[in-house]
Amino acid sequence: MSLSLEPYKGTRDFYPADQFYQNYIFGVWKKVAESFGYLEYNASILEETALYKAKSGEEIVNEQTYTFTDRGGRDVTIRPEMTPTVARMVAQKRKELVFPLRWFSVPNLFRYERPQRGRLREHWQLNVDMFGVESAEADVEIVKVAYGIMKAFGASDEAFEIRINDRRLLNYLLHKHLQLDAEGAHKLSKLVDRMHKMKAEEFLASAREILGEKTKLLEEILYVKSLDELGEKVPQGEGVAELRRVFEALATAGIKNFVFDPTLVRGFDYYTGTVFEIFDTSPVNNRALFGGGRYDDLVGIFGVDKVPGVGFGMGDVTIRDFLETYKLLPEYRPPVDVYICHLEGFLEPAGALAGELRQAGVRVVEDLTARKVSAQVKTADREKIPFVLVVGEEEAKTQKFKLKNLAASQEQELDTAGLIKALKKTRE
Ligand code: HAM
Repeated sequence: MSLSLEPYKGTRDFYPADQFYQNYIFGVWKKVAESFGYLEYNASILEETALYKAKSGEEIVNEQTYTFTDRGGRDVTIRPEMTPTVARMVAQKRKELVFPLRWFSVPNLFRYERPQRGRLREHWQLNVDMFGVESAEADVEIVKVAYGIMKAFGASDEAFEIRINDRRLLNYLLHKHLQLDAEGAHKLSKLVDRMHKMKAEEFLASAREILGEKTKLLEEILYVKSLDELGEKVPQGEGVAELRRVFEALATAGIKNFVFDPTLVRGFDYYTGTVFEIFDTSPVNNRALFGGGRYDDLVGIFGVDKVPGVGFGMGDVTIRDFLETYKLLPEYRPPVDVYICHLEGFLEPAGALAGELRQAGVRVVEDLTARKVSAQVKTADREKIPFVLVVGEEEAKTQKFKLKNLAASQEQELDTAGLIKALKKTRE
């Protein structure tokens, strides 16, 4: 049997053109995160399995992790998310770190999922998190970073929607309003988390199994569109004041495309306050683009004093689908400024010129073959390299070169200093 040419199921190979788009996405992430003063961190892809068992949630630990026993008998998991790792890092150096912390990272994560649109087994995820601020202002800043990233990608407000809820409110509704015990509340929240992936009748039938007669109460609150509307049905709820603060601050910041969504749960058990998810308004991408929330108890599981945290994770797969849908991806351009061709016998002066240009910071490819000049130029064109020049007897003697812009079919004669200036200018 011959070896497969395919990458491992649910993973991707990044040929240079794919890497170009990946780098573009990472570049926008980094630029916006840094514009808010977030510092980059990283860690290993391997963690002890116990880390995820502590707080991530059953689905992810039991069904979605790549877990193995190492040669020393340790139970090891390839990270399915970054939040437990960053919480561990914060807990470890809690005494030395200067709070509040604003941190970001772009880890690759692994989840054993059924590969489908928007879901793969390996993805890269921007994580933006703030530690040490308990008030709603931190939640607002985190949503602002998320919004800022969408704007930096060129998305219009109409193209996406920020759905917001609060775990305190959700818990209040489950425990006090619907009067469920811990087990019932857990079951119902997992069901609500999945409700948009099910038919309405199917959802209600399952809800009835947990709630019985009280399903009517649930139906009343599931579809409300605002906190005021919820207030008419449920007199007083925890988390409402915090949500109002978040909504007001977002409106003050000029962000309009957010809605209150009482059905938003988010999968992880560690969330304790605000939760939010960004959705594409186009039906083509019918799952969350990304999401996050507040988790005030995660750092504390390591046996240190509590440190409140809030943040989000944004995957490269879903955002790339979004950018493709809205034609927001830039045109592919290789990271090369000029392709130097040469006539027979002039490889050496061509190499000398390439060296000088590189010294000055220009990105240069030298054609090393003995092919005809037309074939050399064709390679540059196929590689989408914007400029070419040819070194022959005349050029070697005069040190003047004809710089040709392939797409525009324009030519300029320049000396080395002129070449450097012109080529660097095209990058601005
Ligand atoms: P999450 O909702 O599991 O949250 O993932 C966040 C985002 O990562 C998703 O909305 C999606 O963009 C992307 N993503 C997740 N799984 C996959 C997959 N299998 N394939 C492709 N993309 C995927 C978290 O992971 C939280 N730890 C985020 C967080 C950070 N909360 C607070 N800080």
